[in-house]
Amino acid sequence: MVKIDVTDAVRSLGAGESRAFAAGSEEIALCRGDSGVFAVADLCTHAHARLTDGFVLGDLIECPLHQAQYRLDTGERVEGPECPALRTFPLIEQDGRWFVET
Ligand code: FES
Repeated sequence: MVKIDVTDAVRSLGAGESRAFAAGSEEIALCRGDSGVFAVADLCTHAHARLTDGFVLGDLIECPLHQAQYRLDTGERVEGPECPALRTFPLIEQDGRWFVET
């Protein structure tokens, strides 16, 4: 298991913004949706485009390549080409700091 400190990003991400992080072998997109900050896999499950190059729309993230849309909370695909759900990662608050665990 890898645990990374994302406190600065959690504090600075504006509405609809995302930022890429590496955590061991995982590439993670930290995104601020309408309901808060979420951590999901940064690579689209359709053809591996980088989702942080796409768009956060409400509580969804849209792939820039073929416009698959995934829920930020569950990773479920709700629009676009047929493909598996995105992996999601817990965002954990500890003593005023925020961490993602993979
Ligand atoms: S690569 Fe993301 S929808 Fe095709």
